[in-house]
Order: sequence, then structure tokens, then C-alpha cells
Amino acid sequence: MDHWTAIEAQPASTLKALFDADPDRVAQWSFDQSGIYFDFSKTHMNSALLDGFQKLSAAKGLADQIEALTNGVAINISEGRAAEHTAERGIGADTSVENARLLKSRMKALVQAIDAGALGEIEHIIHLGIGGSALGPELLLEALKIGDEKYETAVISNIDGCALEPVLERFDAHKTLLVIASKSFTTAETFLNARSVTDWMTEQGVTDPFGKIVALTAMPDKAVEWGVDESRVLPFSETVGGRYSLWSCIGFSVALTLGVDVFDDLLAGGAEMDQHFKEASFDQNIPVIAAFCDQYYSQIRNCETRAVFAYDERLGLLPDYLQQLEMESNGKSVLADGKPLDRHSSPIVWGGVGTDAQHAVFQLLHQGTHLVPVEFLAVIEPGHSLAAEHHHGLLLNCFAQGAALMTGKESDDANRNYPGDRPSVTLLLDDLDGRTLGALIAFYEHRTFANAVLLGINPYDQFGVELGKEMANALLAGDSNQMDLSTETLKNRAFPA
Ligand code: F6P
Repeated sequence: MDHWTAIEAQPASTLKALFDADPDRVAQWSFDQSGIYFDFSKTHMNSALLDGFQKLSAAKGLADQIEALTNGVAINISEGRAAEHTAERGIGADTSVENARLLKSRMKALVQAIDAGALGEIEHIIHLGIGGSALGPELLLEALKIGDEKYETAVISNIDGCALEPVLERFDAHKTLLVIASKSFTTAETFLNARSVTDWMTEQGVTDPFGKIVALTAMPDKAVEWGVDESRVLPFSETVGGRYSLWSCIGFSVALTLGVDVFDDLLAGGAEMDQHFKEASFDQNIPVIAAFCDQYYSQIRNCETRAVFAYDERLGLLPDYLQQLEMESNGKSVLADGKPLDRHSSPIVWGGVGTDAQHAVFQLLHQGTHLVPVEFLAVIEPGHSLAAEHHHGLLLNCFAQGAALMTGKESDDANRNYPGDRPSVTLLLDDLDGRTLGALIAFYEHRTFANAVLLGINPYDQFGVELGKEMANALLAGDSNQMDLSTETLKNRAFPA
């Protein structure tokens, strides 16, 4: 019997039966790490499943893969390179760690110089980037800003002028710093926006717009060629994937807006989670256990989605961030060796904020026909100074939803029956600060990696995004010969000849 079949053959217990059978269930399935309490007790994980997944992990070489990841081995085999985001946090091959440290010292020196007025008076920052060059920085800014920052920072990603225009209307061009974040330094959306910002600066009478640009990229030569002064080009290693890059110089706008100390805390929190992932046995390893749960629900219970609800406004962008991290990494149909993947790849990740989502989508979670594993996040320390009822209400609603999903409630009236036995994981953060957020994001990265290893896929490439770019370029170039009739008709209707 192969390992998946053995896992599938395990008798399914209800959550109620698991709790009834084991008074120590909460203690066994909850873990503390870096200011975060992870509660897996409301999942169907049990010792037999854990054993089955540990055997699968051994067969898939998970322990060796973790070593390879954190030692700079070229595990991104389709692109022939390593995946060195942990080196940005000080865990990796010595040369890569040292390289990241030197590049980050340059980044910090530029932050200090700008703070000291080297580029004149700066009040506003426009950070342009998309995907990994925007989602991470924006998540960090939204989660960690306290409201008295020296700079107002806008992260703009969309090519849609509706995103950029209101910012240009609000900001003072003479006091604006433009930060262009692009690993490849070629992404169409980012460079159209960059041109519009420099044009706006020129129109507003800024004499040297290029003197107010900072570039964050793995392709420094391209940035210089584009016109950015070499002293304001902050490179990072090509081995850091875009969606894993917030730890690198891509975090420049975060360090400038929130302070270098906050950024250092973030890196330290990430490094704590790296050490845990490297060292903890798999029965205590939080990202690995989370991946076991993911695989259980995805492969054995056929759950096609996973929902993430942050009971904290500050973490409202977390689902968007996780969508790229997990779906761009693990949304694949082939194994690392190119053979077909014969099981489900990444679940569709979706979510929102509590309590809003309770009044919108929770109907389906409680009574719909889909089984959706839910992930709740909450922070013990409130991020505001309003009456305690706000935070009490917020957190207790979060806990009540997990309880209701699990226990359900029987009724003779089918409309009012709650089947229960619906799983959830709760992540309870002591506080929302650089360290806990760093540990949280690193947890998600490692969980994504562990899932990829269990499936046998390469999480570090993303060829799936290329065809759409090619076709958009063909349409933009006026070459619609290859297009289908529907697409051609849409184009002609929007842009009649
Ligand atoms: O198109 C997808 C993608 O390549 C992502 O992987 C990446 O995060 C994003 O585009 C932005 O790319 P870049 O940082 O090179 O502009």
C-alpha cells in the first residue's frame, strides 16, 4: 500500500469523537512559537494520521529538502537556481547570508540618508510594483503602521489609472519619492505607472524627477539603463523569488516608512521560524503539521478551497498576500520532474476579515455543501484605544465561530440544522509587531514549501503566468491574428478602428 493509500485508509473520526477520546487534545495539538499560539485541535488530525503523514514525509525526503532549502541548494530545478529567501533572514549558505547582509546595509544607509534629507524634503512615497513586489510591502505597511509615520506611503500596482490618479492628485510632486520595485525590472504595469509618475513630476515642475527615484531589483543594470542613478539602485539576489522577496531590499519602502528597527524585528521573527522549521521534529513542527492538515483536507476530504479570516483589520491584506504565496507557488499540474501531478495541487485560498465576513460568507461555511477548512487569526493586544468592548467582541466572535463550525447544532427543522464537524485552525498572536508578523509570514512560506514537497512539485517557478502576458503583448502590439473570434470582437468593441 502506498503512503497516500495508507493515509486514506485511516478511519475518519469526528471532531467531537476526537475531543471526547482525548482530554489532552488541546495540549497535544497546539504550539507556541515566536509570540504566536497555533491551535490545530479543531482539525481532524490525530496520531494515526500524523504517523501516516510522517511516513509520507520520509518517503518524499522532506527533512533533506528543508536542509537543501536552507543551505542554498539549487532546488528550483526548472530555473536552475536556489530559493534563498531565508538567507535574507540570516539562515542559509554563508556567502548568500553575507551577500544579503551587505545589500541590506546599503539599503539601510539609503534609508538613513533620505531621513537626513539627502534627497530634499520628502513627505510622500509612491511604491510601484506588482505581485510579490507589492503584496508583501503593502501587507507589512498596513499591518504595522501606527499612524504617526514621517512619510505617507502609497503602494500602487494596477495598470488601471484609477489606482494611481487619486494618489497623484493628493501628493505633492516636489516632496514625493518614487520607489520602483521590480525583480525583473521589466513588468509592464510597473513601468507604465513609473512613466506616468515621472511625467507628473515633470508637469508639476520638478526639475530632476530621476533624482527622486529609488529602484529595488535583481537586475540592477537594467535599472541604471532605465535612468536610475546607481547610488539609488538597491539590488537583491536573483535567487530570492518575487513572492518571497519582502525580506530583501523589496522591503525598502517598509523600512523607510516604519523604521529600520521594525524591519530588523521582522527579519528576526522570520529567522526564529526558520530555526524552528529546521530543527523541530515533524510531530512538533508547526509549518509541517499545517501542511499535513492541508494535504489531509485537500487530498482525502477533497476540499478545493481553504478560507483565511483575519479578525483584525490590520491583517486585512493577508488573504491577498497568501493567494499569491500559495497559489502561484503550488498551483501546478506537473511534478518537479515534469511528469503529471495525479492529485490536487494548491487549494484555492480565499478569505476576508472578521467580523465582516460572518455577515456575508459564513452562511456557506456553516451550512453549505462544500467542506471548507477555515483559518482564523486574531491578536490579543488591540491595535486601537477605543473601549475594550470592541476587542472583546472581536476576539470572542472569532472563537465562537470556530466552536460553532465544530460543534454544530441539531434541529428537526432542516433549515435550522447545523451539521458541525467543520474544521478550523486558530492562530492567536500576542501582539502585532515586526517579530510576530515576521514569524507568521515565514510560517506560511515554510508551510507552502512543505506542501510542495509532499506533492513533489517545484514551488519556486511560475510559468503559468507567462502565456497571458504574451497574449496581452500581442494585442497591445496590434497583432491579433492568432486570437479567437470572441477576443477579437471584444477588442473591436472596446477600441473600434
Ligand atoms: O507575473 C507574475 C510575476 O512574475 C510574479 O511572480 C512577480 O511577483 C510579479 O510578476 C512581479 O514581477 P517583478 O517583480 O519582476 O516586476
